[in-house]
Formats: sequence, structure tokens, C-alpha cells
Amino acid sequence: MLESIFGKKIDFNELRKDFTILNRTINEKPIIYFDNACMSLRPKQVLKVMNEYYNKFPGCAGRSNHTISEEVNKAVNEAREQIAKFFSAKAEAVVFTKNCTEAINLVANAFPFENGDVVLITDKEHNSNLIPWLKLQKEWKIKLDVIASGPKNEFSVDNLISKLNEHKGKVKLVSVVFTSNLDGVTNPVKDIIRICHKHKVKVLLDCAQAALHHEINVKKLEADFIAVSAHKILGPNGVGALISTKENLDLLKQFMVGGETVTDSSYENYEVEKIPEKFEAGLQNYPGIIGFGEAVKYLEKITIKNIQKQIIKLNEIATAGLSEISGVEILGPKKADKRGGIISFVIKGKPIHEVSLLLNNTHNVMVRSGAHCVHSWFNNDKNRESMFKDGTVRASFSFYNTEEEVNEFIKAVKEISEL
Ligand SMILES: Cc1ncc(COP(=O)(O)O)c(C=O)c1O
Repeated sequence: MLESIFGKKIDFNELRKDFTILNRTINEKPIIYFDNACMSLRPKQVLKVMNEYYNKFPGCAGRSNHTISEEVNKAVNEAREQIAKFFSAKAEAVVFTKNCTEAINLVANAFPFENGDVVLITDKEHNSNLIPWLKLQKEWKIKLDVIASGPKNEFSVDNLISKLNEHKGKVKLVSVVFTSNLDGVTNPVKDIIRICHKHKVKVLLDCAQAALHHEINVKKLEADFIAVSAHKILGPNGVGALISTKENLDLLKQFMVGGETVTDSSYENYEVEKIPEKFEAGLQNYPGIIGFGEAVKYLEKITIKNIQKQIIKLNEIATAGLSEISGVEILGPKKADKRGGIISFVIKGKPIHEVSLLLNNTHNVMVRSGAHCVHSWFNNDKNRESMFKDGTVRASFSFYNTEEEVNEFIKAVKEISEL
């Protein structure tokens, strides 16, 4: 389908050609990759710049002054600028990490918590935004409390306000998922930030899923910290970022330290580097950072708005198709546009891992089954007896997927339901 942007046409079928993996066949049939919430595919443009690093300038940044090192410096600085622009932040406030999980751990370990401080999360968090806080609680560094969802499993602003009032003055940070990887539902982050700031509480957004589906403007949102992984947004594995503002990063203590995080050291003491380097200990993942920069450049050309439209269109087809199959139950809202790129479902009487294996083995449809790292939601009393108690099968779409692929998926689910 053609979409108009800046007077140019976006042809999603044409863009598919950038993803060479999509030419792969297994058992002489094309692959249908619907595990995009776990990891996106990468366009050849991203792979090209990463190869260039290894083939042309495989050095380290910020240390040596030879030509190759200067080239790495330039490429890393450009990537940082590009990523900052994509999220409407300042380059100095982009801290590279290994992934979204490490970015959240950085805040958890570097935030100046004091005895008795409370952190709030939702009851639908990925382990990445639960375990770091549970660990701090075990170490008596914070108290963790959970904002219960409303009756339809959606974020409850009323419950947030009552938690803030219950722990009056003690809540220092609210750390919430922007878009859930469980059911694809997006939380009202603007309202959450507005309410928290009224209570003088900082907000950390887990944007692992949201970054491909929503324009994230750190400045407009007034988000204090956002955590992202490159591999969910067409970038390489092993790189992510904590994106913030100078003021908020200055609040944080150092977490991991070593080379690059100091300007000088003696046997007694050390001088701390400025941001963002003060948080980036040791040699960095330079090809990863450069690939990350190229990935957001690629996304900027298509625009997140166009991506969102295309993905929702695919999810609407999938939702309509699966809703007609007897025994299929979809987790979350009925309407596809409330679930972004995700359709999480079960087929009554069919074990979830068998369904995903059959989809793979019979139709090359690659999805994920299980608890999707949100075990706590499944262990919650109110969900333990639901039809989703053993987990779900999750298909997640991206803009390079097609209607034909979705139709093949519907056909496959129907066949499995009739077995
Ligand atoms: C909502 C959400 N948060 C956090 C993460 C963790 O991301 P990573 O493993 O890249 O750190 C994921 C990964 O699937 C996710 O979906």
C-alpha cells in the first residue's frame, strides 16, 4: 500500500526488499516472521554500516588519536546525535547501555533513594521492570508497591492517585511500561507523567515495545527517563539506551565504573567524567551504536505514524480472522487498534507451546508462546484461573509483514483449532 510522506510514496512491499532474511524459505515455503515484539528484523542499511565498522575502522572511540579512532569517534557521535533527534532529546542525555534491561537497572542502582522511599510499578511489567525493583526491596533499599489495573486490565489513573496518596511524600519514582509486550496495550503515559510530576515524583518509561509504535518525544512528554533496546526497532543486538535530560542524569550516582567513566584517578580517588560518559564504563559496542543510529535514520524516513498505521491494519485483519475461529480467545481489548502490533491468544483445549510449534512446523509462521517474561501477571490471583492461566500464543507484526502473511496465519490457526 502507498502512503504519502513529504511528497514521497512509501511502498511497504518495496521496503520488504531491504530485509534480505525475508527471502529465506524453509521446506520450500517462505518464512512468516511474527515475533517482532521479541526482536525486529534488520534492514541491509543497518548491516552495511556495521560491516563498514569492522572492515574499515575497527577501533575504539575517545582514547587514541589516530585516524581510525577519529573515524569511530565521528561515527559514534553522529549515531548519538541521530538517536537523540529521534527521541527529541539532547545528545549528552543519551547513555548507551547493553539493552533496555540495563537502562532500567542503571536507574534502579543509581537513583538517590533514601531509607523508606517507595517505587511504584504496574501489575503488567516485563521482568526487566520488576526484578530490579524487587532486588532493591530485598536489599532494604526501597519499598516496592504495585498499581493494580482496572477491571478491563487497563491502567487505572485512580489507582495511581490512591497509591501516591497512600504513600504520601514517600514515592520517589514511578516506573511503568509504555506499551505492554503481553497484550500490546499502551498506557496513558502523558497523564501518568502529569500526575506524578504534580506529586514531585519522577517517571521512568519502559519503551522497549513502544519505540516502534509511538512517536516518543522526551521533551514534549517531559519523561524523566526512558529505556529502549535497539533490537526492537531494526537495530542490532546488545545495544540500548537510557535517554533523559541533563538535570535528571545529574541526579544519578554512578553505577558501573571503570575506564571512560573518569577523567583521572590515583590510588586514593578519581575524578568523575561528565555525562553521558560517566555512565558508560569500558569499551563500548561501537558497531552496535553505529547500527542503532542507522536504524533510527531508517525509521525516520518511513515515519512512526506510517509504521503504526500499517501495523494496525495488519492487526485488524488478524483480529477479524481469529475472532471468527471457534475456541480462539484474544487477550486484552477486542479492537485491534488498542493492541498495536500484538495479538495474544489461546485456542481452548490446545496447549500454547503445541500451537506455536504447529504454526512453525506446518506454515513457517514464527510466533512466541509462554508468559512473555510477565510471569507476575499470570501468577496474579485474578488471572490464575482465567483461560490465559498457562500463557498465550503471541503474534506480533511489523511494517514489513503483509496481508498475505496474515491470511496464511489465520488459515493455520483455523486448521490447528480443528485438529
Ligand atoms: C515491555 C518490555 N520491556 C523490557 C523488555 C526487555 O528488553 P531487553 O531484553 O532488550 O532488555 C522487553 C523485551 O521483550 C519488553 O517487551
